[in-house]
Amino acid sequence: MNEKLKKLFFKGANFLGVNLPIMGGAMTWVSENNLVSATSNAGGFGVIAAGSMSPDMLEKEIIYTKQKTTKPFGVNLILLHPQIEDLIQTCIKQKVSLVVFAGGFPKRRQIEKLRDKNIKTMCFATTSSIAKKMISYGIEALILEGNEAGGHIGPVSINVLVQEILPEVVNVPVFVAGGIGRGEIFLKFLELGAAGCQIGTRLVCSEESIAHKNFKDIFIKSEARNCQVSVRLDNRFPVIPVRAIENNASKKFIDEQKKVIELLENNNISLKDAQLKIEHFWAGSLKKAVVDGDIENGSLMAGQSVSLVKKIQPVKDILNEFVNQAKQQLKEESKVL
Ligand SMILES: Cc1cc2nc3c(=O)[nH]c(=O)nc-3n(C[C@H](O)[C@H](O)[C@H](O)COP(=O)(O)O)c2cc1C
Repeated sequence: MNEKLKKLFFKGANFLGVNLPIMGGAMTWVSENNLVSATSNAGGFGVIAAGSMSPDMLEKEIIYTKQKTTKPFGVNLILLHPQIEDLIQTCIKQKVSLVVFAGGFPKRRQIEKLRDKNIKTMCFATTSSIAKKMISYGIEALILEGNEAGGHIGPVSINVLVQEILPEVVNVPVFVAGGIGRGEIFLKFLELGAAGCQIGTRLVCSEESIAHKNFKDIFIKSEARNCQVSVRLDNRFPVIPVRAIENNASKKFIDEQKKVIELLENNNISLKDAQLKIEHFWAGSLKKAVVDGDIENGSLMAGQSVSLVKKIQPVKDILNEFVNQAKQQLKEESKVL
């Protein structure tokens, strides 16, 4: 491999214990043992999406993944999950190498619990102050995820996050995510100081992904402009925005919000339970599309990089494309200099 690329890969690859600092972003219903092991076997770092799994289901998923790869992989835990403490315990029992916390910010004791057992932790940072707070809690790496990404998103693009937060974080590796579909842009983020990247949308149509054929087909047909952000109905009820290919599920989400807001207004539900209800809606709706192939009524969570998804291909080829595009870019630049 090109010497410069080797150097740029070193920090992230060394942190993850793999060859390529490319994380397969956890995708609920999609990132299970087949895709995760394929990502790690291809030299990247696969991450199981615990999503709404019970601790027993997660344990089985970790065991199946270990049967398919000897390489390191991680587990993504959603902090809102009612059994979050038991899920953490499952990761400790199964000695996973890294836990990625999502859907909020972990507590110091949750990070320390894992750290005491030599399990690395990672979470998303949405501002510099949150990044610093998480580092002070002992988090070992951060992800900056731009709102180009698929699924639940923040309000800011990766272009701005890398200018605002990346230069401020010097003591832990920072991975970037959201709208990363090719190696040239991956290279540029590494040159700016990122340790690696996390990709989701590009892996949905991998051969190893168990997503339904209909789900994969609609990804191949869709353009960036088809991936829109969900509408928030009422500022008093802050739902996390979701980016998905527009269909009936986008409209159904508005009806679901109306129902939940009514329950809240009538004091029939707590704010936390209301948020959980919304999350259950998304998980159920995503399952309908990913597992059952109902692309009319199920949620088609996808990032803007969907326009770079052209065909079904093995994970190894997708990761190799990233590396070759980065290499080619460096070659072109060396000709100009
Ligand atoms: C279908 C789908 C499901 C996702 N589910 C999760 C999830 O369960 N947990 C999480 O932290 N991120 C989730 N994400 C975000 C990905 O992990 C990743 O950060 C994102 O896809 C990166 O942006 P990209 O799609 O532009 O590559 C999901 C994304 C998609 C497309």
